[in-house]
Amino acid sequence: MDKKYYILTFGCQANERDSETIAGILEKMGYVFAAELSQADIILFNTCCIREKAENKVLSQVGELKDLKAENPDLIIGICGCMVQQEKVAEKIHQRAPHVDLIFGTHNLDQLPELIKRIEETKTPQTQILSDLQEIREGLPVIRGVPFKARVNITYGCNNFCTYCIVPYVRGREKSRELQYIVQEVKDLVADGVVEVILLGQNVNSYGKTLEPPVTFAHLLEQLNAIEGLKRIRYLTSHPRDFNVDLIKTISGLAKVCPHFHLPLQSGSNQILQKMNRGYTREHYKELVETVRQYVPSASITTDIIVGFPGETDKDFQDTIDLVEELRFDSAFTFIYSARTGTPAAKMSDQIPLTVKKTRLQQLMQVQNQISLAINYQLKGQVVKVLVDGCSKKDQEILEGRTATNKSILFPGPKELIGKFVEVELTDPQTWILKGKLI
Ligand code: 5AD
Ligand code: SF4
Repeated sequence: MDKKYYILTFGCQANERDSETIAGILEKMGYVFAAELSQADIILFNTCCIREKAENKVLSQVGELKDLKAENPDLIIGICGCMVQQEKVAEKIHQRAPHVDLIFGTHNLDQLPELIKRIEETKTPQTQILSDLQEIREGLPVIRGVPFKARVNITYGCNNFCTYCIVPYVRGREKSRELQYIVQEVKDLVADGVVEVILLGQNVNSYGKTLEPPVTFAHLLEQLNAIEGLKRIRYLTSHPRDFNVDLIKTISGLAKVCPHFHLPLQSGSNQILQKMNRGYTREHYKELVETVRQYVPSASITTDIIVGFPGETDKDFQDTIDLVEELRFDSAFTFIYSARTGTPAAKMSDQIPLTVKKTRLQQLMQVQNQISLAINYQLKGQVVKVLVDGCSKKDQEILEGRTATNKSILFPGPKELIGKFVEVELTDPQTWILKGKLI
């Protein structure tokens, strides 16, 4: 009987994409997908360490597998992803979870077959972590979750070193993929039935700067926009420092590039932005949003905000609230600052008490939720074009899809529409989702 694999993925789209490659590698080795964790011969945790919460979740779930491993000693339990790239974490895992057989990092997914073979042959745990990506490996196998949408890496790593962020340490230095590989991959995906691509990079705006000869992100978008059969192009994540007018103008002229701008603000206070090493001011950010709205009037704008960064005063926090009220984002991901060992901010002296951070988060969420609801409510009665992603988790009769502006739309409809574009009339807009009916 075929051996089965089960992958649990934590964190961001980059990890989701890595898990697709891990699945591809395992299937090439002859493994098949396990519908349930308990049936698997290999269980992999692809981890995240952006906030402490993400790490704790992994460790407790890994702990729960102790009994399963005791029952089935041949079961391979592995931990990979960002968490293990941190200093001394592999040792910590060995101590806290001796039933883990395999630890490997974010730069050596291609070594997986070799590591599994060694575990099987020697019956000893294997650990392999590289500190940085030597060279981009092209052409690794990939198993996509859905046939009509695909994630495409355009850069790996990050060079920004925002002072709170662990990503540059666990994902290494920024590297861009060669333009022709990306274009070819997207062409192949479209030939395979893909209609929407999501371009992935920690800072997509700096794509291509180090290539020989250099290429711009705008140029990449133009090349992809020309691919026949492709319908939608999304990208994550942008950096407000590197998002310029030229790029906005280019995007406004490219029909397939979605009018959705995710621009992580992080803080509305200049003092805090500087301590975060974000490289822009609130004035620059405001101007950026105004320019986006000028050239792309239909744009939705979303953001990420951290509350309780070291030294954040009531006044700094009020600056964030004021800017949020002024700019009126469609939605915001809001986070409590989490000190990450090894980052400059973790060593700053004026850490904010958790109770203060929690109160600020609540206050910010309340302000933003009202804005999100008001913006969505204005869409009541409108007809929007939706790419149907699948059934709603709660109700199999309800379909879920997204607009070009990345709004989540729920409506009753048959499963046959999954992967298709449909028109939906919005009848009941809410804060996070909008309900409607098929036209
Ligand atoms: N604490 C809280 N939030 C963080 N983010 C990144 N690092 C931290 C941290 N240490 C948030 C940022 C980023 C998003 C992906 O996660 O807002 O944009
Ligand atoms: Fe982290 Fe800043 Fe890089 Fe984003 S841009 S991954 S927040 S260091």
